[in-house]
Amino acid sequence: MSQLSEVLSKNHDKNIEELKELLRIPSISAISEYNEDIQKAASWIAGKLESIGMEHVEIVQTKGHPIIYADWLHQENAPTVLVYGHYDVQPVDPIDLWETPPFEPAIRDEKIFARGATDDKGQTFLHIKAVETLLQSEGKLPVNVKFCIEGEEEIGSPNLPQFLFDNKERLACDVVVISDSDMWDRGVPAITYSLRGLCSLEFSLKTANSDLHSGMFGGGVQNASHLLVQLLSTLHDANGKVNVDHFYDDVVDLTEFEKEQIKALGFDQEKLKKSLGLTDLTGGENNYPYPERVSSRPTLEINGLWGGFQGEGTKTVIPNKAHAKITCRLVHNQNPEQIQELIKKHLEENAPKGCTIQVSLGDTGNPFLTPIDSPMIQKAAEAYEKVYGKSPVYKREGGSIPIVSDFSQALNSPVVLMGFGLPDENLHAPNEHFNLENFDKGILTICSFLNLIQK
Ligand code: BES
Ligand code: MN
Ligand code: MN
Repeated sequence: MSQLSEVLSKNHDKNIEELKELLRIPSISAISEYNEDIQKAASWIAGKLESIGMEHVEIVQTKGHPIIYADWLHQENAPTVLVYGHYDVQPVDPIDLWETPPFEPAIRDEKIFARGATDDKGQTFLHIKAVETLLQSEGKLPVNVKFCIEGEEEIGSPNLPQFLFDNKERLACDVVVISDSDMWDRGVPAITYSLRGLCSLEFSLKTANSDLHSGMFGGGVQNASHLLVQLLSTLHDANGKVNVDHFYDDVVDLTEFEKEQIKALGFDQEKLKKSLGLTDLTGGENNYPYPERVSSRPTLEINGLWGGFQGEGTKTVIPNKAHAKITCRLVHNQNPEQIQELIKKHLEENAPKGCTIQVSLGDTGNPFLTPIDSPMIQKAAEAYEKVYGKSPVYKREGGSIPIVSDFSQALNSPVVLMGFGLPDENLHAPNEHFNLENFDKGILTICSFLNLIQK
């Protein structure tokens, strides 16, 4: 291991320069203007995998953005690891709040700033470097390795499930390893053993056949904006609990052990309030402790609502249409499609008199939960311990990586979520960055994991 760390520190600057090349490509999956850059990022990754000695490198085109596959399969009796990551990134707005441009990577205070630095180009790159480092120093890998890197994670991976189910043989493995999550804190690694799922829907509410003059009709007819807020207010009760029938039916509660663990980890309420500029931390199910609410309880959020006049000045109008967008974060063992139907039913049944509503269902993604005592997770813990000198914290993540559940179902393999990000690295926000203290250490931890699972 110490030999590897020498190689890594010798190559550190060169490795960072390479990561910068990848970070310069604006591979934003959500905006079609960037489609060419998506292709460029895919070619860059494929080229890199080829150059480090991975084989059967293929850029698989899909109906959307391409998937990159590669493998190295020369350890007949050793297990096979499949690395998943994503090279697509979130949009950059609001652009004026970036201290340096999002696609001109810059290093300040031992952090590299750029869109994708931590989510997920930076973290995916650690795996590429781990393989390269091992191949360079040993001439071979301790285990078989496959890569599957996609370009649509940030838009819900619409094409990857099909690819997984169509390529079960090619992707077959003993473990799926993913670095697209966080450590617990500086110097404190974490293994994520649960992710929330999600579902989305939106609806329009309509009253009269056109907007009406509020002087001529005001006081006499329904206002679509009023009815919208009335209806939206039925979605939660006074304690913040979701008020949709059967919403919680399939929720698997935390075990006593998990609750104890969460308590033991502690949580600095004052620090969080200060950093968020809040005076209290209510919101959601107020009967549950904050750390549970943001990781292992389901939520229903109104993400946007509009209706009526939004321009400058006053308009004396009674709007006839109003709209809202809703998403839920879901937990094991909720079914996102079922939850969508429950919410649709609730909206239709509780629609106030005098309006019609039209609900449309959006994307869904499954939650994920895996036991922490599985052998592969224990090996990952050992690897962290070796490199960070500390055993990892086991945590449930509030965010989602919907494809994880598909991996686990399609390939029937355990999934290990080995994150190297830190919780304050501004993913999806201005000034996203990755702490370079976890760069060489991340690579070393991955090398160590690959070595540990050899037997
Ligand atoms: N890497 C994140 C998920 C994540 C965030 C894991 C923080 C651990 C800590 C992933 O890229 C992401 O942003 N997921 C989206 C999913 C969506 C776009 C389908 C999310 O959680 O909103
Ligand atoms: Mn990600
Ligand atoms: Mn993301």
